[in-house]
Amino acid sequence: FMIHSQAVSESCPSNIALIKYWGKYDQQMPANPSISYTLNHCKTNTTMEFLAEEPFSVQTYLSGNEEVKFAEKIEKYFKNIEQYLPWILKGKYIIQTENTFPHSSGIASSASGFGAIAKCLMKLDEAFSKNISKEESLRKASFLARLGSGSACRSLYNGLVVWGETNEVSGSSDLFAVQYPNNEIHEIFKDFNDWVLLIHEGQKSVSSTVGHGLMKTNVYAERRFQEARENFVPMKEILKSGDMERFITLVEHEALTLHAMMMMSDPAFILMKTGTLEVINKIWDFRRETGLPLFFTLDAGANVHVLFPNNGSEQDIKTFIETELLQNTQKNGVVKDIMKF
Ligand code: PMV
Repeated sequence: FMIHSQAVSESCPSNIALIKYWGKYDQQMPANPSISYTLNHCKTNTTMEFLAEEPFSVQTYLSGNEEVKFAEKIEKYFKNIEQYLPWILKGKYIIQTENTFPHSSGIASSASGFGAIAKCLMKLDEAFSKNISKEESLRKASFLARLGSGSACRSLYNGLVVWGETNEVSGSSDLFAVQYPNNEIHEIFKDFNDWVLLIHEGQKSVSSTVGHGLMKTNVYAERRFQEARENFVPMKEILKSGDMERFITLVEHEALTLHAMMMMSDPAFILMKTGTLEVINKIWDFRRETGLPLFFTLDAGANVHVLFPNNGSEQDIKTFIETELLQNTQKNGVVKDIMKF
């Protein structure tokens, strides 16, 4: 068969995990199931130009600037997925990407980035598999995104998304993500805010690849994987019943456990900064004083994702975030910026 030269464009959001994926086996198989919120306002837009007459090579541009390191990563990735897209090494790629969030923000762009690339690849693939349904195409995009960056497979769907096999979610799989059933979600969890307090910009001291790898020798790893699997039982009940208090406890526990695993790794590492702890303590004080549903989660970095539902109490919460968490801490340089998703 022949694939002809063409250009495709796709956009994909990022996501933030509530039950965390941390630890994996070969070929990006997760050590435990995870569930995330898709961040619809935090996207990567990608244009992929495919030149069929040229030998295989990859050029990537981020906001117009050539990124050689990223191109090497994509080349390796394309070679890795050739078995699933047999035509993939038969041309040259020029890939232009831009994020709708600041590059240096420390927001993981790998999830939205690989999600968008996988969607572009599936669009090119349509030339061969015309009879593939939209649903199948999305599933394969999720499968392919997973092989780029594990958490990316959850970015292909909106709302709450599960990756990794669990008895609690029918159809769940280690190979691709599935949308959490909408009729199993209480209204309160359907309209949520995720604001990111930017505490540390730039490169992380330990990459998530290295972090996942250190779970192989972490003596607490098996217990942690088991806990994450078990946490799907209360999570399912909570999502159905709308029990915000239990939701908050579970989500914050998951975030702290992720970072506890880093501290218990050998060698140990810490990605939280002083500002991370300061913000967490302020959130806890606020909750103790007001009882309002403001809470946090963390990904593999120092920034704090503050979460709160749109249920009528958000004005007081927003005021607190803008004044106490942002203005007061910005003065001493603890919190650099805020992004509202
Ligand atoms: O997709 P990766 O390999 O960058 O791993 C990301 C892991 C966390 O963001 C820390 C947790 C998660 O489930 O997204």
